[in-house]
Amino acid sequence: MKRNFKTIVVTGGAGFIGSNFIRYLFGKAGFEGRIVNLDALSYAGNLESLADVAEALGGRRYFFERADICDRAAVGRIFKDYAPDAVVHLAAESHVDRSILGPEAFVRTNVMGTFALLEAARAAWQGRSDVLFHHVSTDEVFGSLGDSGYFNEETPYDPRSPYSASKAGSDHLVRAYHHTYGLPATLSNCSNNYGPYQFPEKLIPLMILNMLEGKSLPVYGDGKNIRDWIYVEDHNSAVWEIMERGEAGRSYAVGGENEWENLRLLGRLIEIVAEETGEGKDRFLSLIAYVKDRPGHDRRYAIDCSRIKEELGWKRESSFDEGLRKTVRWYLGNRKWCENVRTGEYRNWLERNYARR
Ligand code: NAD
Ligand code: TYD
Repeated sequence: MKRNFKTIVVTGGAGFIGSNFIRYLFGKAGFEGRIVNLDALSYAGNLESLADVAEALGGRRYFFERADICDRAAVGRIFKDYAPDAVVHLAAESHVDRSILGPEAFVRTNVMGTFALLEAARAAWQGRSDVLFHHVSTDEVFGSLGDSGYFNEETPYDPRSPYSASKAGSDHLVRAYHHTYGLPATLSNCSNNYGPYQFPEKLIPLMILNMLEGKSLPVYGDGKNIRDWIYVEDHNSAVWEIMERGEAGRSYAVGGENEWENLRLLGRLIEIVAEETGEGKDRFLSLIAYVKDRPGHDRRYAIDCSRIKEELGWKRESSFDEGLRKTVRWYLGNRKWCENVRTGEYRNWLERNYARR
């Protein structure tokens, strides 16, 4: 059975994954209905990321609604005005370092905001089975791995940062609404994404921009923490596959099967930036700075994504080298976007908290 949606609300559509998801739906996925981007435009939300989409389809098949997902009246009004038959829930506070500095915003948006959306969906969709609430979550809810093993859908929850704890809370609420009220819902828990339009506080865009600006490249702790990297479009194709054909009530682990120690990844990124800019890589290597470790820093994440591959036939398209090179080229070609999203306040906080050892 393949679901067919007419109107999809994408929460957090002005963020990194959300803006790529909207472009993917209208582009490669060939979605023919309407998309409502519901976003509060926090520091991480930027409508410039969707200027082309708004220009081509705004007011006809693409709509933007600036609203806070915690604002139940606003969310209820959006459900009434657009009568969506699907929600893809991406809006969140998403950065672990920020959650360490200020956990409250994470509990508010990720837990209370998800609750407000679920209530709106439950009220609007009572008894309907031709609708879907898809919740986009992270592998970080499963905690940290040692040298071996993988997370999958059966892994017990063990979140260890305020970010992952708030995402775990939201996952439990979505499942509870499915089991208790019969809300048709699916979930995905994905590994680290990278690609265009990522806010430059996350590892890959931060390192690229710091290289271009001759700033130090801060490696937390010993640099041996491991992440499983996936190109954002491959994550988005997985989300769409689940929305179209995933089983309600089920969650799917999504990953790149692509584990890299942070230091090794930085070495590869330095090579690519050097090739793309024509600069010598030694200059970039000399910028590497070991800094104080992140408190509670999870050691390793790795995903076993057999379920989505076997049950839904999902496949990734980008190799890591291709994806990294596309990403580097995008940041090189979009310096103005980078300037516009960067705020001085957060840079100062990072400098205070991760002083060079
Ligand atoms: P992001 O920080 O780039 O974007 C988040 C978006 O949510 C922004 O546009 C922001 O304005 C919006 N937002 C924040 N608070 C809001 C609120 N109260 N009401 C309405 N909108 C609000 O995040 P991202 O990296 O694109 O992540 C999107 C989702 O995917 C998150 O739920 C995150 O937990 C999940 N996820 C991310 C990754 C990753 O590697 N980036 C991996 C797995 C899962
Ligand atoms: P990040 O992109 O913040 O994603 P997450 O913490 O959600 O996995 O960080 C990825 C890895 O890179 C993580 O192990 C922390 C590390 N890191 C650094 O070493 N230096 C940095 O400046 C940043 C932002 C991250």
